[in-house]
Amino acid sequence: MSTPQLVDLRSDTVTQPTAAMRAAMMAAQLGDDVFGTDPSTNALQEKIAGLLGFEAALFVPTGTQSNLCGILSHCQRGEEYIVGQQAHCYRWEGGGAAVFGSVQPQPLEHQADGSFKLFDIEGAIKPDDAHFARTRVLALENTLGGKLLPFEFVQAATKLAKDKGLQRHLDGARLFNAATAQAAQTGRTVHDEAKRIAGCFDSVSVCFSKGLGAPVGSALCGTREFIARAHRIRKMAGGGMRQSGLLAAAASHALDHHVERLAQDHALARRLGEGLEGIPGLTVEAPHSNIIFVDMSDELKPRMNELLAHLKSQNILATGLYKLRFVTHLDVDEAGVERAVAAIRQFFRA
Ligand SMILES: Cc1ncc(COP(=O)(O)O)c(C=O)c1O
Repeated sequence: MSTPQLVDLRSDTVTQPTAAMRAAMMAAQLGDDVFGTDPSTNALQEKIAGLLGFEAALFVPTGTQSNLCGILSHCQRGEEYIVGQQAHCYRWEGGGAAVFGSVQPQPLEHQADGSFKLFDIEGAIKPDDAHFARTRVLALENTLGGKLLPFEFVQAATKLAKDKGLQRHLDGARLFNAATAQAAQTGRTVHDEAKRIAGCFDSVSVCFSKGLGAPVGSALCGTREFIARAHRIRKMAGGGMRQSGLLAAAASHALDHHVERLAQDHALARRLGEGLEGIPGLTVEAPHSNIIFVDMSDELKPRMNELLAHLKSQNILATGLYKLRFVTHLDVDEAGVERAVAAIRQFFRA
């Protein structure tokens, strides 16, 4: 019997470049970006800065490096950034800002919707006193674990930060997913919402290699002066690339062709959730975007790895840590989602 087609629901980072994206890469004009003469990289930087309403942008290899360059461009040694306990640039980036920049994080607990209490933000800002690190930045993430942060919270938190003299950084690895979810609520366009969210921040990091389906790359956006500082840090971090236009062309193609389609990924995540409703012991968290978490009861949890192995035996991949996680993307279609639903239902019937 032939192996069924792979349904890879581990992450939206697993996508393969489409034929059209590969063609765009092959056609890219190339130079040397360390000399600043790679036309495709320059064009991408201008395009993303323009789309999000910033003066300038910097193409970097990864979202991790983009957040690192952002935080270290805002902060000096002995300073700190306020950030969520679950935020990627606190929990999942090896403590890079502390390791490379002597910048400490000040983590805050999230509310159930991913936001913080404004009172907690205010309380975390240190007085100007030699005992304390200087608080310089409020860093938010949107989407956060697939959740769209309430826009009223984003506005209020970033206004508070500005009033207190802090810089505001957004880890918008999935900014266009957030904008897609927000556009569904407001009726505005996805690009309008992306710009509205980005407009609340002094710097925004956005990833091309997640829902947008490019193989590599992120961009950090900000003022020209901020990006000049980030450029220096990118060099120190080893992120100066040469014929990076090959990758920038893929990212540019993704911005042109893969933003509008994110709504399909969100619809498939909802369909997956609906398909799992009613299985005793499973609690499906209604997805806002392309990431869906499913909690298992205490009795079922010890069987999580068994379930993942059962799915793998049918060439369906997912992850589970404290909850099951499924991520939809460019390379997952309706048939794949239906197969995943059927395989999970089969497991719990057996
Ligand atoms: C929210 C968020 N920020 C940043 C990153 C880091 O991106 P990269 O894997 O390109 O370093 C990720 C990666 O999954 C992410 O989910």
